[in-house]
Amino acid sequence: MKKLISLVIIAMIAVSCNNSGSDKSSNETPAVSDQSASTGGNPSYDPKRGEGPFSKVDISPTLNVAMADAGKKIYTVKCSACHKLTDENLVGPGWKGVTTRHTAEWIMNFASNPDDMITKDPKAQAMLEICLVRMPNQNLVGDDARNVYEFMRQNDGVK
Ligand code: HEC
Repeated sequence: MKKLISLVIIAMIAVSCNNSGSDKSSNETPAVSDQSASTGGNPSYDPKRGEGPFSKVDISPTLNVAMADAGKKIYTVKCSACHKLTDENLVGPGWKGVTTRHTAEWIMNFASNPDDMITKDPKAQAMLEICLVRMPNQNLVGDDARNVYEFMRQNDGVK
């Protein structure tokens, strides 16, 4: 019986993307901490920007409510199955604090080009080790990525 219980506990720890609890701060996993200087042995890769269509995103200090609303709709349809808005992990990491963990360019490139980013980016690889699932491409089009980013900013308290 004891053996069974410890097996269950081990199994629960193994699915840690569901478990790395809500009581932790935004730098909950050391592997995803701010060591963005590392290029993961890939010198041509810029870990601040990531890889994808976005190289310089203009962000206003105040929130664009219309964009955030549009982003929320995309979130509900395409992202909410795997991402909570708290710091609690579901299939993927919770979004609370995500805009402080990465640059706008990194987030928008990751959201539209996850395959290349997971292959090349040290932070994305560290997340993959925790979540054990590669984020599938969600086929964001047009302003989708920018709008979702604005919604993330709203979720992180920008007004
Ligand atoms: C099928 C599940 C799934 C869906 C749907 C999904 N994601 Fe993800 N996402 C993941 C997983 C798993 C990770 C982390 C592992 C990795 O590197 O692939 C992740 C990571 C991320 C990250 C990095 C988070 C961090 O804390 O560093 C961002 C940003 C992100 N996703 C954006 C999005 C957006 C935007 C959408 C909707 C358009 C979306 N995701 C839809 C599973 C998903």
